Amino acid sequence: MNTIIINAAVKADGNSSFIADALAKKYEGSKTFDLSGLGFETDYENKYRDGGSFRPEMVEEGLRDIMSAVVDSDLIIFISPNYFGFISGLAKLFLDRFHVLLNKSGRPTFEGNKKFFFILTQGSPNRSHGQSTLDWMKGFCNIFNFKFYGVVVPSCSYSNTDSARVKMEEISMSLSMFI
Ligand SMILES: Cc1cc2nc3c(=O)[nH]c(=O)nc-3n(C[C@H](O)[C@H](O)[C@H](O)COP(=O)(O)O)c2cc1C
Repeated sequence: MNTIIINAAVKADGNSSFIADALAKKYEGSKTFDLSGLGFETDYENKYRDGGSFRPEMVEEGLRDIMSAVVDSDLIIFISPNYFGFISGLAKLFLDRFHVLLNKSGRPTFEGNKKFFFILTQGSPNRSHGQSTLDWMKGFCNIFNFKFYGVVVPSCSYSNTDSARVKMEEISMSLSMFI
């Protein structure tokens, strides 16, 4: 299974990064991308989008590797912190680029049904606080026919990764059942 791990955290040593590292060790051969290290352009009109199959030139240079990896993947593991009741801005900035994967009728231009496993890290101890974000992500995945599963990792502190550590087994089990 061609697996990619996408970390949409802003903080390099936070809970989301801890989970991304742990899953990269578990899924040998997977590719990990930290969105914070990619060269986004602020002018994000899809200049080269023509409704045809994806070509790397359809996105800015800094995103060509990751978008090519998305197209080639079978499983996308996507990790984002909950920021003000939603995914991080970085996560949204990236997901907006998926526009280039749709044809003029709004249908995906790639073959097959990918799986999308979403992990939302959050400060709130209440998992239901993340539910609206999970629901949004599920709707996003529907557009691309991604099979979706989402988990909330509650009680994540800004100053340590204890919660991510404690929840790793649960995350791994959910992921194993999903794939
Ligand atoms: C700008 C900002 C907004 C946040 N908003 C929320 C929020 O709405 N709900 C919540 O539960 N946690 C919120 N948090 C806490 C983060 O979700 C939590 O610290 C999470 O662990 C961050 O991920 P990280 O550890 O990978 O950096 C917020 C943190 C920041 C910095």
